[in-house]
Amino acid sequence: MAKPTFYITTPIYYPSGTWHLGTCYTTVICDAIARFKRKQGFDVFYLTGTDEHGLKIEQKSKEAGVTPKEYVDKKVANLKSLWDRLKISYDKFIRTTDSYHEAAVQKIFDKLYEKGDIYKGEYEGYYCVPCETYWTKTQLIDGKCPDCGREVGVAKESCYFFRLSKYQDKLINLLEENDEFLLPKPRRREMINNFLKPGLQDLAVTRSTFTWGVPVDFDPKHVIYVWIDALMNYVTALGYGGEDDSLFKKYWPADVHMMGKEIVRFHSIIWPALLMALDIPLPKKVYGHGWLLMGADKISKSKGNIVDPVELSDKYSVDAVRYYLLREIPFGSDGAYTTRAFLSRLNADLANDLGNLVKRTVAMVNKYEDGNIPVWSGNKQNTDEEIIALCEKALPEVEKYMDELFVPEALESIFTLIRRANKYIDENCPWILAKSEETKARLSDVLYVLLEVIRTAGVLIESYLPDTAEKIFSCFDGISAEERSFDSIRTFGGLKTKKVIEQDAIFMRVDVEKEIAEMESKIEKQEEVKEEKPAVEHKSEITIDDFAKIELRVGKVLSAEKMPKTDKLLVMKVEIGEEKRQIVSGIAKYYSPEEMVGKRVVVVYNLAPHSFRGVESQGMLLCADDGKGGVVLVNPEKEVDTGSEVR
Ligand code: MSP
Repeated sequence: MAKPTFYITTPIYYPSGTWHLGTCYTTVICDAIARFKRKQGFDVFYLTGTDEHGLKIEQKSKEAGVTPKEYVDKKVANLKSLWDRLKISYDKFIRTTDSYHEAAVQKIFDKLYEKGDIYKGEYEGYYCVPCETYWTKTQLIDGKCPDCGREVGVAKESCYFFRLSKYQDKLINLLEENDEFLLPKPRRREMINNFLKPGLQDLAVTRSTFTWGVPVDFDPKHVIYVWIDALMNYVTALGYGGEDDSLFKKYWPADVHMMGKEIVRFHSIIWPALLMALDIPLPKKVYGHGWLLMGADKISKSKGNIVDPVELSDKYSVDAVRYYLLREIPFGSDGAYTTRAFLSRLNADLANDLGNLVKRTVAMVNKYEDGNIPVWSGNKQNTDEEIIALCEKALPEVEKYMDELFVPEALESIFTLIRRANKYIDENCPWILAKSEETKARLSDVLYVLLEVIRTAGVLIESYLPDTAEKIFSCFDGISAEERSFDSIRTFGGLKTKKVIEQDAIFMRVDVEKEIAEMESKIEKQEEVKEEKPAVEHKSEITIDDFAKIELRVGKVLSAEKMPKTDKLLVMKVEIGEEKRQIVSGIAKYYSPEEMVGKRVVVVYNLAPHSFRGVESQGMLLCADDGKGGVVLVNPEKEVDTGSEVR
């Protein structure tokens, strides 16, 4: 009989930043769920990938002096190596620059246009460049982007719209009537009250102000809005819109779309509306987890409070990082990262409870049984009933939690069993039982019970901490695949292996205070370095011939005035030799028009004219960053004629 399928997805990641511990959260959780489902016998498809189009990437690649594709290729390679390191067992990694995806997105767009769900119009709104999102005035918070809090600009463009408003009632019904569709529950109310009930507007789904995106097939000066392009990955990855859609037929609808709470809106409103328009069945569950915070802030590159998962995993092991992410943060809520909490979990749960249990038990089997795993008599004394019952109910309990996606609770069940086993050692004192021949049989039973609990814990923990499970299994000489299966732990007594092998400690205890002091001094040092020298992304090397293409000339500012309706731009008349040019420069916050008049400046003379809010700029002034977010003008050290070349 064919196995039941299970399709789980992470959002696709922006390959624009630095990867930090917060970034790993969604992927590690999905990995644990995917591994668990595989072990339960599901045919799992775990999808992750990268969201590579859009203005942000276009801008970043320009800053780095490379093409957008070169830029994303490098970032994607880094991300994949991070996922490999964290043992992320994805089945497919989709990139939105994959040609099959781009072709399918174009086809889907055409289909929606032909159906009349996409139409051409004109858009004017408040646009947040980093979030690539248009907002209405009422959605802004203090005039700023409600998602990231940054400045927004007014933008107007001719573009295509998706008839999102048409789906409003259906979406309200979906969220109100289907308890399982959007979890955890509070997110559902938030979507209904904040977005659906106030009324949905049609969504601008193309951009024409930049080119790094999937062009509309029948109107290629428009590129498809990055969120539409990105959301489609969940079906294009399975071949939808392509030549072979057998995976789509097999795995769709998705069982779980997992993501951070800030992007639930896209997944629980826009995505189902698009699917409704395409007559595709809806995913079964959208789950919006909370954020990993540092202090009160979300860990993110833009906040500069990143915790490096590679460094943590190098120092304390991959499973220590996975365990922390899976166990410490109440699922669905935010959780604050502290080094102390991270190290305390490592010491208390992994080194003490689990590590010690394995180490002590294997050592005792070596000492008292010559490494042979005793045969269990089946006699139950003292607290045997209790620990055996706990062992047998562990899997059903963990399965129940995992069905509800309560990952920390599932781990807690496993550690309850582990802690019970440590107590069982203290209750039964094997070292006393070993002293008398009369209690030797009891000793063998106690040791068998302990080994069976350890094996059960290994089988249960494998989905969350794969390396740790391997280390546990390596203590059982030649353990079989059957003994590593879920079925073998449903009834107590499935351990059949004959011998134990003593191994190194599974986790080493760390000196919390010492480690924290070391980390803090490192952070301080990093901050000192940061203050002296901001992190620089260097551009790629150019030849002298490349440089010779840039014509720089000395100019003198003849007049200057502020551009209306902005506090950033100055419009200047600049004399360059015989010529007078109009130059617009974003220096109004640092130089008043009055102080600019008469200043000598360096002008990028052969820069193609560029328009700022309809005012043409015929060149650019050179400025240096002042290291505090401002700029200072570059000018010749001695007076020279205007028009002199700068080389
Ligand atoms: N590209 C979009 C998703 C498009 S899906 C069609 C995106 N990418 S992202 O790189 O910004 O985020 C990827 C995932 O990382 C999201 O689930 C996000 O919530 C998660 N996290 C990033 N920082 C996080 C924390 N500090 N804490 C927990 N998760 C966070 O959004």
